[in-house]
Amino acid sequence: MALFDNHGRPINYLRLAVTDRCNLRCFYCMPAEGIMYVPKKELLSYEEMERLVRILARMGISKIRITGGEPFVRRDLVSFLWRLHERPGIEDVNITTIGGLSTPYIAELKAMGIASVNLSLDTFDRQRFLEITRRDEFNRVLDCFHALLKHQIPTKINAVVMEGKNTQDIIPLTELTRQYPVSVRFIEEMPFNGEGSHYPVLVWTHRKILEVLKQQYPTIEKLPDPPASTSYNYRIPGHQGTVGIIAAFSRTFCGTCNRIRLTAQGTLKTCLYDQGVLDIKQIVRSGASDKAIRQAFEKAFRNRAKDGYEAEQRRGEQSVSESMSTIGG
Ligand code: 5AD
Ligand code: SF4
Repeated sequence: MALFDNHGRPINYLRLAVTDRCNLRCFYCMPAEGIMYVPKKELLSYEEMERLVRILARMGISKIRITGGEPFVRRDLVSFLWRLHERPGIEDVNITTIGGLSTPYIAELKAMGIASVNLSLDTFDRQRFLEITRRDEFNRVLDCFHALLKHQIPTKINAVVMEGKNTQDIIPLTELTRQYPVSVRFIEEMPFNGEGSHYPVLVWTHRKILEVLKQQYPTIEKLPDPPASTSYNYRIPGHQGTVGIIAAFSRTFCGTCNRIRLTAQGTLKTCLYDQGVLDIKQIVRSGASDKAIRQAFEKAFRNRAKDGYEAEQRRGEQSVSESMSTIGG
């Protein structure tokens, strides 16, 4: 059954954060000292998540992306993923990871039929990787990348473009598409880093990233973007993979937004930029019936901000500054 919001947009995609913890400390996501993690009992349990997925699948959610923090930090993740794959109505399960902890599970992800894996990799230089993530994990992430290729899992590389940090990596990362059938996506930096905006204005906008690509690859071609795509997609003639640019800060893609989010603490977000619109964990733990939970979801979906700017405005005083690790990306 299809589910629509108050702006006529279908909602069929759930981004589910299974933990707020992470083994890295990326500059764009957290301060160096990290963030206050929530106590375990404040996280949704796997049973609670499965119940919510069952309810949402009946309402029309067919695609799930598992995020974090780093999802593989959570114990027994893989058996949870198997159960999600078995859930009627859920057609495609995807995961976003930073790689280091995932490598031992790649073969099993393939066996369960994972739809795709997004690997966060902002640079192809070990030293810059250490500076950006504050951890020396570059080689382990590369191992994961090669394991994904070996098992022919559809793979996307996510690279946040940061002034003074990795703009010299735009071309080397794009070069990966020459040899490998991967999609490399450059993402505008957002102020979700636990501190607030790093800049008075964003310099590395989607336009500027495209200029750099066009200069290096004058024959770059625009590809048609799939429905509800968050990226502008391109291909370079002769390359096996594709390139994408995600205007995450400029928010050019809200008109077709089909996504909702559940944070690891069990808060529903109907936009990345909202403050959390429903404490679903509290509703679940108060003993609500499936029907009552469904009605609470429906009410939230009928009151969705039309775009990320309106969602941000509705926050009032509370500016956008929480860590992406607590939101789930
Ligand atoms: N701005 C833009 N993208 C971010 N991500 C995490 N924090 C930010 C931020 N502040 C991206 C990472 C990760 C995905 C879940 O979100 O690249 O791959
Ligand atoms: Fe980096 Fe992702 Fe971890 Fe944030 S959640 S610190 S972006 S790896």
